[in-house]
Amino acid sequence: PVNARVQDLVRRMTLDEKVGQLEQIAVNRLLGDCNWSGGAFNETCMKQVLADAHTGSILSGGGMGPQSNTPKDWAVMINTIQKYAMEHSRLRIPIVYGVDAVHGHNNVLGATLFPHQIGLGAAWDPALVGAAAESTQRAVAATGVTWNFAPVADLARDQRWGRYYETYSEDPLLAGESAASAVRGLQNSASGRKVAASVKHFAGYSEPANGHDRVPADLSMRYLQDTILPSYKAAVDAGALTVMVNSGAINGVPVHASRYLLTDVLRNQWRFQGVVISDWNDVLSLQTAYHIVGDYPSAIAAAVNAGVDMAMVPPDDRRFHASAVDAVKRGLISQRRLDEAVGRVLRLKFTLGLFEHPYVDPDKANAAVLGTDSDLARKAATESLVLLRNSGGVLPLAAGKRVLVTGPSADSMPNQTGGWTIGWQGVPDGVTVPGTTIVQGLKANAPAGTSVEYVPDGAAAAAQAQSADAIVVVVGEKPGAEGLSDAPRPELAADQQDLVASLQATGKPVVVVVVSARPLVLGRAAGTAGLLAAWLPGTEGGNAVADVLYGKANPSGRLPVSWPKNLGNEPMYYQQLPGTNSGPDSGYSPAYAFGAGLSYTTYTMGNLTVNRSQVRPGDTVGLDVTVANTGTRAGDLVVPIYVSQPTSAVLAPAKRLVAFTRVTLAAGQSRTVHLTFPASRLAVTPGDVDGAGPTRVAPGAYQLSAGDLSASGPTAAFTVR
Ligand code: IFM
Repeated sequence: PVNARVQDLVRRMTLDEKVGQLEQIAVNRLLGDCNWSGGAFNETCMKQVLADAHTGSILSGGGMGPQSNTPKDWAVMINTIQKYAMEHSRLRIPIVYGVDAVHGHNNVLGATLFPHQIGLGAAWDPALVGAAAESTQRAVAATGVTWNFAPVADLARDQRWGRYYETYSEDPLLAGESAASAVRGLQNSASGRKVAASVKHFAGYSEPANGHDRVPADLSMRYLQDTILPSYKAAVDAGALTVMVNSGAINGVPVHASRYLLTDVLRNQWRFQGVVISDWNDVLSLQTAYHIVGDYPSAIAAAVNAGVDMAMVPPDDRRFHASAVDAVKRGLISQRRLDEAVGRVLRLKFTLGLFEHPYVDPDKANAAVLGTDSDLARKAATESLVLLRNSGGVLPLAAGKRVLVTGPSADSMPNQTGGWTIGWQGVPDGVTVPGTTIVQGLKANAPAGTSVEYVPDGAAAAAQAQSADAIVVVVGEKPGAEGLSDAPRPELAADQQDLVASLQATGKPVVVVVVSARPLVLGRAAGTAGLLAAWLPGTEGGNAVADVLYGKANPSGRLPVSWPKNLGNEPMYYQQLPGTNSGPDSGYSPAYAFGAGLSYTTYTMGNLTVNRSQVRPGDTVGLDVTVANTGTRAGDLVVPIYVSQPTSAVLAPAKRLVAFTRVTLAAGQSRTVHLTFPASRLAVTPGDVDGAGPTRVAPGAYQLSAGDLSASGPTAAFTVR
């Protein structure tokens, strides 16, 4: 029935109406003097965008919205736009409203904010990612939003890149399983309203050659097929209704004009049926930045013919509209392709129920809906914390002691919540985001007898150190997002290294908590008794850090990425290919390896068995491994299973993650854990000609191992025939 309704509408639409459906316009365009100056809705601008141009979608990029940012005002704003659009649409076609709610509904005040994706990746817990996504779904749906530009399925492989924290992991499987779970959570409709997820940024956006956002990349077809594409595919296979395109260029082709990626791979190989949306201004960029065409109509044709269905269009929407009409009239875009793209946009709107239920009830968009998941956010933040060093038993901090807290991120909600929080680059000046900072968390959760003193000034803190039993210094980065948060030198700032060194010099035990968008080379700040990676833990970050430092929670996060020792080790990831190089820092030599993470208890893994010794490419491989908590505290253990090949005709990394799970073990408890993976997960691009044909599972011997990358855990072998 939906297809029939779509076809019926498309048949009745004019060229102008059709072109409008291909446009997504920023909400700012409807305000002030129609020229991005803010303020209230302007009737003239509304008419231009919605009535005259029949625009199909409106977005709030990076939180642009009503000035008050209350949930109710958002609902009222979106209802107002929707009402105007439908009442001025001959065929009563609704708009679909998009935001970037990438760690909770980070556009409105009062919403619970989860850790950014890199922190959720550190939890190695796709079910948790799904729960956070469901919570986000409820929050955005309540405010009338029906399209969420999340999750990011890009891989974290270059610490210099500013959007590193928006990814789940450097590993294709961990990133893919997390992104897939996010898609299912974001598109869950238990709240009674549907929201579309958008898998972004398809594909290879995280690989800019010099680490700067959107710099073109050269990626071999082997790397693209075997490493880059799988995480997007996992998210698409989870049922994502939309996909957003990588702004960059790969192998000499801007991805917005890549028929290979957008049509051959995404549509024909993966059977994706949904809407492909451009990123910001990227259709025009084909002309003005990439110069692959000489005029706007040709740029629109290049994108649409490659497979883009909707363009995210910044200010100059009237020129886009006229140019798109022109492109169709000149035959640069066929009627068939136009109808296909329009049909996909309309199908999305039917799927979301927008024709029947275009409005939300603003009275239900309140903090009670948006801010009630603080327990889940606290759990998520707790699971995301990775304990990297704990010497001399400094942690958990013993009760009844004097704790001195300092450092620039100790009391900073903007640092803790990162980019995409109310503002695009993070919390704007003058805005207060409710939540618990780390020092507030340490004070509020201090065990009886423990005193917490916060000394913001580093020099004063060092001077006071003698009266403390332990020092917690919270360091890291300032918030940022695309374009402005690239770090050519991903290291802790020199003054923060000095601060840690001066506190170390006091002889008191120092625990460093790093609040950052990426792993940072620690330099003079390395070697403290305690080191905790907190990522960007969100509004509950302070409580979570307190739970772990005081030992109320047993740390269980594991690095989803490699933590480099030296600047210049870029790109840095564990799946490096073998080489003949030698020397102390050649090959893979991080400060902390992918998967590293300590606990307050001890575990063992033993007796790994695989259910078949001969495997065919279509099989599901089952395996069992016995895990035990040999310590005195309950805890969660992440169980990673890696595969390696004694010989491989094409270079293979020493280990590749093929399966993982997280189990809770009581003190002294032992359990046999069952995991499965499809043998197709082993497939790689064969042959010595790069890009020759599809991937396949190479025949030969394989070995599975359980446990940390470097540990000699239990192994099991099988052969692929
Ligand atoms: O969704 C984002 C994207 O990740 C980066 N450019 C802007 C889009 C809309 O805000």
